[in-house]
Amino acid sequence: MVIEKPPYQSIGIFDSGYGGLTVFKSIVKELSQYDYLYLGDNARTPYGNRSFETVYHYTLECVRYLFKQGCHLVILACNTASAKALRTIQQIDLPGIDPARRVLGVIRPSTEVIGRYTKTGCIGILATNGTVASQSYPIEIAHFYPEIKVYQQACPMWVPLVENHEFNRPGADYFIKENLFQLFEQSPDIDAILLGCTHYPLLLNKIRQFSPAGCTILSQGDIVAKSLANYLFRHPGMERNCSKNGNRTFLTTDNSTLFDRQAEVFLGEQVVSRQVSM
Ligand code: DGL
Repeated sequence: MVIEKPPYQSIGIFDSGYGGLTVFKSIVKELSQYDYLYLGDNARTPYGNRSFETVYHYTLECVRYLFKQGCHLVILACNTASAKALRTIQQIDLPGIDPARRVLGVIRPSTEVIGRYTKTGCIGILATNGTVASQSYPIEIAHFYPEIKVYQQACPMWVPLVENHEFNRPGADYFIKENLFQLFEQSPDIDAILLGCTHYPLLLNKIRQFSPAGCTILSQGDIVAKSLANYLFRHPGMERNCSKNGNRTFLTTDNSTLFDRQAEVFLGEQVVSRQVSM
């Protein structure tokens, strides 16, 4: 992957760390023509156990930074930031910063389609403490599918497992088994699970291994990518503002060598990032 000076009107993709790369990968596959600027706030990850105020403050700082780099459109590829910061940024901050810019999250696109994947009408959401506590998923799903029962399980150790490169090791098994057990203890009828944290697809093999056979496990990447394609189609003014040179640029708030090594494992291609401070 060739890294150049950030192009002016990239689509910004933000996450607390590496997790957003799972969304980035799907978006780039679906919409390869655009320029993308990925920002991972690895220095302050994880966000999942932090307060509303802290997540909001960190997210807004990163969104402002991406705007300064020329992004007109920023995707919060992070459920915790989408749950705790998105609405305030959209309603309170954006009108003062630049009413023509947009920030979109990952929760709404996921809840719009989730009903297609269950036969029993019982869905499990695996997410961070912050996302679960916000009740964003049950509230949003009730808008689209009032008949569906939603069971949530917080998995506070899963993001640290990914961020600390333990996601493929036997040490991860204990926490994955334990949280899945807690989820199915709430209802054995759950037949679809949404990975409501963008880090969790990196644990997908183990999640599959320890889930009942026949249970559908949904990652958000492809769902968010399709939703973004649809958004750009419906908003030609914004679409024209997104430059199309196929550039991909990576920024991290922590050590770039570490980011490059890990991002390469997740993306399956070479990554050269730059460290930035907020
Ligand atoms: N990828 C973020 C999410 O989707 C992880 C949050 C965290 O940093 O704990 O929620």
